Amino acid sequence: MFIKPFRSWSLKDNQATDESLYLNRRTFMTGSSLLIGGAALGLAGCQEQGGGYDASVSQSASTSDFVDPTLDLYPAKRNEAYQIERALTDEATNASYNNFYEFGSHKQVAKAAQALNTRPWQVTIDGMVEKEMVLDIDALIRSMQLEERLYRHRCVEAWSMTIPWTGFAFKDLIAKAKPLSGAKYIRMETFKDPSVASGQKQTWYPWPYVEGVTMQEASNDLAFLVTGAYGKPAAKQFGAPLRLALPWKYGFKSIKSIVRFTFTDKRPVSFWEKLAPREYGFWANVNPAVDHPRWSQATERVLGSNARIPTQIYNGYGEQVAHLYKDLGLAETVLYR
Ligand code: MTE
Repeated sequence: MFIKPFRSWSLKDNQATDESLYLNRRTFMTGSSLLIGGAALGLAGCQEQGGGYDASVSQSASTSDFVDPTLDLYPAKRNEAYQIERALTDEATNASYNNFYEFGSHKQVAKAAQALNTRPWQVTIDGMVEKEMVLDIDALIRSMQLEERLYRHRCVEAWSMTIPWTGFAFKDLIAKAKPLSGAKYIRMETFKDPSVASGQKQTWYPWPYVEGVTMQEASNDLAFLVTGAYGKPAAKQFGAPLRLALPWKYGFKSIKSIVRFTFTDKRPVSFWEKLAPREYGFWANVNPAVDHPRWSQATERVLGSNARIPTQIYNGYGEQVAHLYKDLGLAETVLYR
């Protein structure tokens, strides 16, 4: 998500691929895919498992001996209503190609992200609620029904993955929060601690990372608060200990490492919207018919494979979410507003 004069999201998709393959060549060689002379030779781990995954794979790039206090909750039972026709992205590929600007404006942030201390971790619920509260993350997670869901994940940079997330329905958090009737939006915020997240020393970014959704969007069955992935607690680079997954929207809406949910009647202005309002708007629904001002959104590169496939409206989740936008008209459902 490049905003001049910053780097990275301005990279053409193929440039980003080359950089990632170069920097992660050892992971790719020992992992599941191998590129020789430009030809893709398989994707054994991902395709041959036919949608399964190896839960024994350790958290990539983790240097810590931290044991997650909720480890016993994993693997959670898969909710079969969220099956998917695509092969899962293998864990090593996913864990070594991330957007987490707090730890750098490039994809190889996994190692730096291990500096994040995910315990103790508190989540504040405030704004237009019956009673503001501060919740301990372990108590929160244990109070929820965890389940696994297979979700597509489509970045605005035109790459995609398919991920086995574990977590709980956003609407269950809303029920706990008891919002007042006037609340229309939920504003979410990531931690801010430049002493561990060196990216936050870059003061031209409007830290902390902020995102927002309407109450209707957050209450939709698909809106998922993620605590784990690949059958275990989420790796730090995935946004531990709590991140959002909104699979019908471009990935930047899926805020990582959340510390605050504020119920409000004012539409939140997100991190990227603040930086480049004409490129990263509030709705950010996946729409192949509307290009980003600087690149096409018609197709997507499937990470971990050599495939480029057509992008689907609402990332294939139209049946579940199109009704949320019917009164806005198609132009409003796209990326840039
Ligand atoms: N959340 C925070 N706090 N910081 C970020 O930089 N990047 C966003 C989103 N959430 C980001 C974030 C973007 S641009 C994308 S595409 C996804 O996280 C990437 O998630 P992944 O690294 O798990 O693929």
